[in-house]
Amino acid sequence: MTDRIYNFSAGPAVLPEPVLRKAQEAIWNVAGSGIGIMEHSHRGKVFDRILDEAERGCRDLGGIPDNYRVLFLQGGASLQFSMVPMNLLPADRTADFLLTGVWAQKAVKEAKILGGKVHIAASSESTNFDRIPKADEIRWSANPVYAHITTNNTIYGTQWRTEPAVPAGVPLVADTSSDMYSRQRVITSNHDALHSPNRKQSPRQPII
Ligand SMILES: Cc1ncc(COP(=O)(O)O)c(C=O)c1O
Repeated sequence: MTDRIYNFSAGPAVLPEPVLRKAQEAIWNVAGSGIGIMEHSHRGKVFDRILDEAERGCRDLGGIPDNYRVLFLQGGASLQFSMVPMNLLPADRTADFLLTGVWAQKAVKEAKILGGKVHIAASSESTNFDRIPKADEIRWSANPVYAHITTNNTIYGTQWRTEPAVPAGVPLVADTSSDMYSRQRVITSNHDALHSPNRKQSPRQPII
């Protein structure tokens, strides 16, 4: 008998019991060190090993190649809605957005606050985000500094099956929050993709 029930929420949902048991054990005594994970120095060797292992896990599961960095940052995916334009959108340049749901809307809102120009290259807003725009509906701006998509539109049940072809040399920034590890993506240097994902149950958000 277990006191647990299954939660199939669209956000954080049920995890395998062995995972929970291992996490429980690590709070008490991680990696046989005699100290719980929350009591270890974040500059210590034990923590370094855990971080390395976490990065390796992300790379293996997500098919992330070596020429991409994995950053573990505080804040959720929403923080990336402002961090991405803060880092990539100068005031005199334009970022192109594909508007496919509420999370894309929030990304647009934050980018606008920061003063850069925003161009909506395609949108399914007028039909309540019922679909992913087709390739021939997309109108890129003249020289976007990056293009932004939301790979999976959590509320609407729509998903980019393949990423859109962006103009040559334009980095693609993808919010992959809700499908990051559900499939391996093709990330190649000629594709020039930069992803800003989290996983609902990741304690910190990997950014690649
Ligand atoms: C696609 C997508 N982007 C962004 C977010 C926001 O994530 P956070 O709550 O980590 O800020 C969510 C949350 O459900 C999401 O599904």
